[in-house]
Amino acid sequence: MMTDGFIIAIDGPAGAGKGTLARRLADHYRLNLLDTGLTYRAVAHRLVTHGLPLDNISAAETAARQIDLAAMDRDTLSTHAVGEAASRVAVHPSVRRILVDKQRDFASRPPGAVLDGRDIGTVVCPDAPVKLYLTATPATRARRRMAEIEARGGQADYERVLADIERRDSRDMGREDSPLRPAADAHLLDTSEMDIDAAFEAACVIVDQALAARTKA
Ligand code: DC
Repeated sequence: MMTDGFIIAIDGPAGAGKGTLARRLADHYRLNLLDTGLTYRAVAHRLVTHGLPLDNISAAETAARQIDLAAMDRDTLSTHAVGEAASRVAVHPSVRRILVDKQRDFASRPPGAVLDGRDIGTVVCPDAPVKLYLTATPATRARRRMAEIEARGGQADYERVLADIERRDSRDMGREDSPLRPAADAHLLDTSEMDIDAAFEAACVIVDQALAARTKA
């Protein structure tokens, strides 16, 4: 099936299952994959590593310009602390502009891409033929996060994990520039009662319809 220049935009809050779904869809449809959260994480990580405050906008802009999308190390960037710092860095419009340019450049490369983040359907790729908005209740997302931590042999307090999730949601949804929200034409997928296989199946139905419409056009 023809997927040239095809873009799947996936947005939603932390822990809704975007990353896993994005990977499955990219593999299945043979598209490039970009976790845009890593770009914000990479900027935050650079600032922290250099002992710079997260509200030092000019340092954040410099870090954003230096980010190489092909060299982001998921292991270093996936900690909870870096995610929290990324959410703070992500409120600065000038930093967002630099990263959004890089994300759009990535999305424009053949054969097309799956991008996941917070503003893909609304800002980065507003013309994407498929937009998915994944949600799940904060309690479900907190339980998933606990399971991840425990699977790595760690321990966490449920109430704290839930409070962290709620704080991050309100920062990501409440910021002025590109807040997290579904695009008007996004398909909503509530994964609270769905496992990843069910979410993948539901997403494939939507993507296949969009591909069929493209083939006809
Ligand atoms: O998806 P994540 O947890 O890796 O994202 C970390 C933070 O980066 C998130 O809390 C907000 C920010 N972010 C954003 O503002 N826009 C995106 N497209 C992706 C992430």
